[in-house]
Amino acid sequence: MNTFNSITATSRLNPFRSDAGEGQFSIFAELRAMGAVIPITVPMGNTKGQQWMITRMEEVTEVLKNPRLFTVDQSLIEGLTPSVPETTTKADSSAPTTFFSGKSMISVDEPDHRRLRRLVSKAFTPRYMESLRPSVQQIADELLDKVQEQGHMDIVKDYAHPLPINVICDMLGVPVEERAQVHVWSTAISHGLGLGVREPEVEANLRAFGDYTAQLVETKRKRPADDLISQLIAIEEEGDHLSEDELLSMITLLIFAGHETTSNLLATGTLMLLDYPEQLNKLKADPELTSSAFEELLRFNGPATMTGPRYATEDTILGGQQISKGDVVIPLLKSANRDELLFEHSEKLDIDRAVNRHLAFGHGIHSCLGAPLARVEGDVAFRTLLRRMPNLQLAVPREEVNWHFALSSQSLVTLPVTF
Ligand code: HEM
Repeated sequence: MNTFNSITATSRLNPFRSDAGEGQFSIFAELRAMGAVIPITVPMGNTKGQQWMITRMEEVTEVLKNPRLFTVDQSLIEGLTPSVPETTTKADSSAPTTFFSGKSMISVDEPDHRRLRRLVSKAFTPRYMESLRPSVQQIADELLDKVQEQGHMDIVKDYAHPLPINVICDMLGVPVEERAQVHVWSTAISHGLGLGVREPEVEANLRAFGDYTAQLVETKRKRPADDLISQLIAIEEEGDHLSEDELLSMITLLIFAGHETTSNLLATGTLMLLDYPEQLNKLKADPELTSSAFEELLRFNGPATMTGPRYATEDTILGGQQISKGDVVIPLLKSANRDELLFEHSEKLDIDRAVNRHLAFGHGIHSCLGAPLARVEGDVAFRTLLRRMPNLQLAVPREEVNWHFALSSQSLVTLPVTF
């Protein structure tokens, strides 16, 4: 049993302090040395119970593979979580449905989770995703065509953002001229997200995003097209598989999850390669290493710091700690992915790593639905960038690279490069 005090919001070892910055990984290393399951008093998740950070691979996996014991659905532990989220105001009762307020696959466990996920899982199989490769390639080439002549670009704005948003919006049928606004909303939502703490600005963006999605569905109802939203509407209209609330939650989830994380990885991954020139040169010399490099970039500094919170449905022991019913556990993916018990030289970026069972896409029933899509996008994006711009270099001093730090992710604001 560990004997340390819990980590408070102001503690040096709170990895979510806004000034933790790129030092987050050394904090994770110290936390792992302290234990696999660490009490925290940083406000996270809507619970009256104790909160815990889970730092090591074995315990993170144990939580994620056991949704009966550690559920995403806080309504299952009635009495221990507030029935109305503490951040919800009265005005929210009229708010449109999004994956935050409604029932989406990411916020429910079985049997609803299986039903909801099955409705879209066919659209995300590795085989189907491979069939999208030529269109992903075309998008990547068109984006680089626009900047090739000028000899410089902002990787974030010119490549990492537009590539995934165009891919997912093509799949879903979001009109081209509306994508820039959708991206503004989802970036604002992802920057402002805490676990249980929602600023008014985030609420406003969620509301606008939800309103937009409801209108989009109405338009598609009148004029169905060959896209995933129209297919989901047809399922909803068949009756008993998908309610209106579930339909809207599903669409906002797919749009949001379908590009924010991938954008983040394409930009951060480019910076990581520039930070480790010997790895970058190895990749340029052998593009066949791209898919293994992509997995290593995910392990080394993947987009998701943590999964969503899980709630203990019973008293249990995890990593030697007593966990009580209603406690919230936060699986720290970025820490587990550097676990020295599992990865040799875990603090080293090695694009040729032989065994790489990272958790950047989560684990268990909620593991990332879009992983096969992200893998195709990453493979195409890095291959194309390095083939067409082999002299890629940072255009600003490394210390001037600008980050946005949020609770569940860290992303680059800009990444100016020359080539
Ligand atoms: C779930 C990461 C790209 C859709 C997740 C989870 C993680 C994750 C960690 C698990 C969350 C949890 O357990 O609480 C990533 C990363 C990506 C990526 C690192 C890119 C590099 C995508 C894409 C899509 C997508 C392209 C496409 C729609 C989803 C969905 C879920 C999910 C729908 C919920 C699955 C469920 O609850 O069954 N993702 N994701 N993601 N992701 Fe991704």
